[in-house]
Amino acid sequence: MKKPDNAAAIPEIRPGQSIELLKELHILTRDGKLNQDTRRKLKQVYHLYRFIEPLLERAEILVDHGAGKSYLGFILYDLCIKERASGEIVGIESRPELVEKSRELADRLGFQRMRFLACTVEESLTAAGLPVAVDVVTALHACNTATDDAIRFALTKNARHIVLVPCCQAEVAAVMRARKNDSLSQKPLSELWRHPIHTRELGSHLTNVLRCLLLESHGYDVTVTELVGWEHSMKNELIIASKRGAPRKNARQRAEAILREFNIEELATRFTY
Ligand SMILES: C[S@@+](CC[C@H](N)C(=O)[O-])C[C@H]1O[C@@H](n2cnc3c(N)ncnc32)[C@H](O)[C@@H]1O
Repeated sequence: MKKPDNAAAIPEIRPGQSIELLKELHILTRDGKLNQDTRRKLKQVYHLYRFIEPLLERAEILVDHGAGKSYLGFILYDLCIKERASGEIVGIESRPELVEKSRELADRLGFQRMRFLACTVEESLTAAGLPVAVDVVTALHACNTATDDAIRFALTKNARHIVLVPCCQAEVAAVMRARKNDSLSQKPLSELWRHPIHTRELGSHLTNVLRCLLLESHGYDVTVTELVGWEHSMKNELIIASKRGAPRKNARQRAEAILREFNIEELATRFTY
């Protein structure tokens, strides 16, 4: 079969998509080709993109937390925002050197409505230059409790849609571990987290359950699904929340009951506010 001699001839690449960007992201090789690995990578990017694209339809501002190299932001900008008259993507990242690189790349590509702030998610809540309301908040593998800070940011900024692919969260498991003897002496249910690996896994699962309840208690409809084949991490849970209006009636109560049952009530300020 004849090999494509330029990137534009590759069927996976969409009309108008920036070849330079795909090279910068190492999706295309320097000579503009896709190999088996990068073809899979592009498929994965499109898979995530399919979930986010409909949410961007009337969105003016998307904030991406724990942006890293801003992979997600660049792809979304290129495919959804570039051709529009308005719309902005802001990347929040605590490592200044990554922010600097993203700024340079956005400049080089002429992606003028991409901005990057070098700060933590928590600091971004009060950062100058961010509006009081935003449309979409994303956090893709933002480390540990940065996802929780991103949720707080989204709730404070009244985001219409929130897209989360949580990373490992160690905080809940740490509290379960610290209280384990007490739990084991009181609750048969504590057998679920007696062994260290179960403490870690259950802690991680509980974290996402509590996140969903928090979002529902603030009037969001929540869908939890799997981000199939995402290669960055073993953590593939995708949580999409869209503002509906009325809070789910028992969501707060359920979260409080879970915190009691698992002996982690000290985390109430994290999950029930
Ligand atoms: C695993 S990387 C994910 C990067 C990107 N979202 C992706 O999926 O390709 C996590 C990024 O979050 C950043 N990060 C971790 N904690 C943060 C925080 N509290 N505030 C802002 N950025 C944070 C790290 O520096 C790192 O670049």
